[in-house]
Amino acid sequence: MNNVIAIDGPAASGKSTVAKRVAIEIDGLYVDSGALYRAITWKALQEGVDTSDFVANAKVAQSIDPEFYVENNVLRFRIEGQELNAELRTAEINDNVSYIAATPAARDVVMVWLHKMPALGTLVMEGRDIGTAVFPDAANKFYLDASPEERARRRHAEQANSKEQQSVTEVNSSLQKRDKIDSSRKKDPLKIADDAVKVDSTGKSIEDVVKLICDSCKK
Ligand code: DC
Repeated sequence: MNNVIAIDGPAASGKSTVAKRVAIEIDGLYVDSGALYRAITWKALQEGVDTSDFVANAKVAQSIDPEFYVENNVLRFRIEGQELNAELRTAEINDNVSYIAATPAARDVVMVWLHKMPALGTLVMEGRDIGTAVFPDAANKFYLDASPEERARRRHAEQANSKEQQSVTEVNSSLQKRDKIDSSRKKDPLKIADDAVKVDSTGKSIEDVVKLICDSCKK
């Protein structure tokens, strides 16, 4: 499968920034698969669901019908006519999303949505299981990582203008907790695909990482 570039890796490893830029470089479509798990979490919290209840999580996921659309080099979605942006990036969503992502039936729902996307163009899709489970036949797979300290620093800097600014230590422990749940869940955990190119972005500029990925892609 040559029309998917899979970029997996832990939280705050720089996947979004890099994947967006790669999509522009190759005139493809950036897909943030994590945003779909966040949208299900948002809906679950709105409905007062306890996200440790996998049966309830599954029902919420199955009740959602996102409307996908293309804007510039990004594949976006609306839920019930609503675009979700800052709503998906709150500390409450961060603290609950791994439970939604660990719910097998919610993963099945997201998989169906993601599998429809290659019809829309060449995808640069970021996530945790894109190269291992969603598109295991992707010709171009990358696993992006960075040191825990650098990841916490980056996420902390992103929160600079938010009302919910946490300390670097708090950000670090939230990231570690999420990585642990994401890597130890039963279904499609975060792991490196055997045929992925591993990229450590610690101390590298965004430009360097984007270039490395574009240069490594098989045409
Ligand atoms: O990349 P992110 O932080 O927005 O991801 C949110 C959550 O969704 C995180 O717990 C990992 C999970 N996720 C996943 O399990 N599989 C994906 N393909 C993308 C995200």
